Amino acid sequence: MAEDIPWEQLFDAARAAQQRAYAPYSKFPVGAAVLAEDGRVHAGANVENSSYGLTVCAERNAIARAVAEGATRVRAVAVVANTKRACPPCGMCRQVIAEFADPDTPVRSRAPGGDEARYTLGELLPHAFTRDYL
Ligand code: THU
Repeated sequence: MAEDIPWEQLFDAARAAQQRAYAPYSKFPVGAAVLAEDGRVHAGANVENSSYGLTVCAERNAIARAVAEGATRVRAVAVVANTKRACPPCGMCRQVIAEFADPDTPVRSRAPGGDEARYTLGELLPHAFTRDYL
């Protein structure tokens, strides 16, 4: 249920991670935080590379940190970027989130000016390819 998600804690963690983003090329720092099933929050930032295509987004880094800390499921995702309108995760990150979340998992994004976007993962990635097909 989205109601019992500690959104402010998630967005605080996402903003703290965003401060540590490594984005010298795009100058577009992003922060993300995920809530694991045990209640712990794991955050990540985008990490770019001089070989641009090797860049890893904030959302995938947050997921990787969660998994490295023992999480197996993600209950919620929060994303922050310095945009006018709150922006959703990119397609690649949607697929990676889908590995650890459900179609009804809430994903929220905030922009500094106060705009907030609310989605479910199923809205962002309908007809996801999952392990059920393997
Ligand atoms: N980026 C993310 O971290 N998450 C997204 O969902 C979209 C894009 C990063 C990648 C790159 O470092 C910068 O934002 C510009 O695309």
